[in-house]
Amino acid sequence: MNNASETSVAVIGLGLMGRSLAGAFLAAGHTNTVWNRTPAKAEGLVAQGARLAPTVGDALRASAITILCVTDYPAVRELFGTNDVDGTTLLNLTSGDSAQARDTARWFEQRGARYLDGAIMAVPQTIGTPDAMILHSGPQADFNAHRETLRALGTVSYLGADHGLAALYDVAGLTMMWSVLNAWLQGTAMLRTAGVDAATFAPFAQMMAAGVATWLPGYAEQIDSGSYPAEVAALETDARSMAHLIEECEALGVNAQLPKLFKALADRSIAAGHGGEQYPVLIEEFAKPHSG
Ligand SMILES: NC(=O)c1ccc[n+]([C@@H]2O[C@H](COP(=O)([O-])OP(=O)(O)OC[C@H]3O[C@@H](n4cnc5c(N)ncnc54)[C@H](OP(=O)(O)O)[C@@H]3O)[C@@H](O)[C@H]2O)c1
Repeated sequence: MNNASETSVAVIGLGLMGRSLAGAFLAAGHTNTVWNRTPAKAEGLVAQGARLAPTVGDALRASAITILCVTDYPAVRELFGTNDVDGTTLLNLTSGDSAQARDTARWFEQRGARYLDGAIMAVPQTIGTPDAMILHSGPQADFNAHRETLRALGTVSYLGADHGLAALYDVAGLTMMWSVLNAWLQGTAMLRTAGVDAATFAPFAQMMAAGVATWLPGYAEQIDSGSYPAEVAALETDARSMAHLIEECEALGVNAQLPKLFKALADRSIAAGHGGEQYPVLIEEFAKPHSG
């Protein structure tokens, strides 16, 4: 149990990210206790007013909420294996998967702690600014109790009671990021064969990505209702354009793997009888394991 003031925060793990988190709490005027396996990494923070706790247990007891930011979940288990966590509140911002988040929540809760899981959708340099998006999942009352304190880190978002949600949103967000980047690189490779440089194509690509993004809410309605009427185009029309894209890539001598993946997914859906439906029907291909 601790008697810490409501806005006191401990940060455990002072790597590149942990130091930024602790620095943001200090900048926002929170009492900040820190602990790191290698104490020397706390020196800069101590110079700014942080207190270096001698042990993890001491940091826990000194603070209303303790933020964990170490390499991975096994490191979290190693750190807290023998510590008394009864009556404490923890927010784990260490990256991991949804199963690790749920298991770790149970592990802490069975020992009497309140536990929130989270994911940092930002780099250390943006922490403390609105550009830093921090995702949270776990009991809403625990999030609400510390929301104002956590706002020191950036834009905070609460996703739901399931502890695995922050980790799932994290990887879903990365899928979006790599998909957009790969599509842009594909188009850039194609246009460079005609002497168009990346900077010239970038504003067009940006406009395309922004335009496609506006389709998502309507397509989401089709997915959630399980009904995919071809209001704009049928999947088989898209598949013909994909064949054209593959031919163009091969003729230009650029990599056609990504367009071939698009076409393979569409072909499987068409073979399953969905050629006359709209593009989001492909969710049925994405929703099952790839059978080879
Ligand atoms: N950096 C980013 O841009 C970024 C962005 C989003 C999310 N994240 C996530 O934030 C977490 C930390 O990342 P980082 O960039 O700060 O990594 P980092 O600079 O490599 O720091 C790792 C931290 O974990 C500690 N640690 C590792 N194993 C430990 C153990 N067994 N016991 C105690 N402490 C241990 C290290 O302690 P020592 O100092 O003693 O080695 C250090 O404080 C990761 O899960 C990462 O995926 C990072």
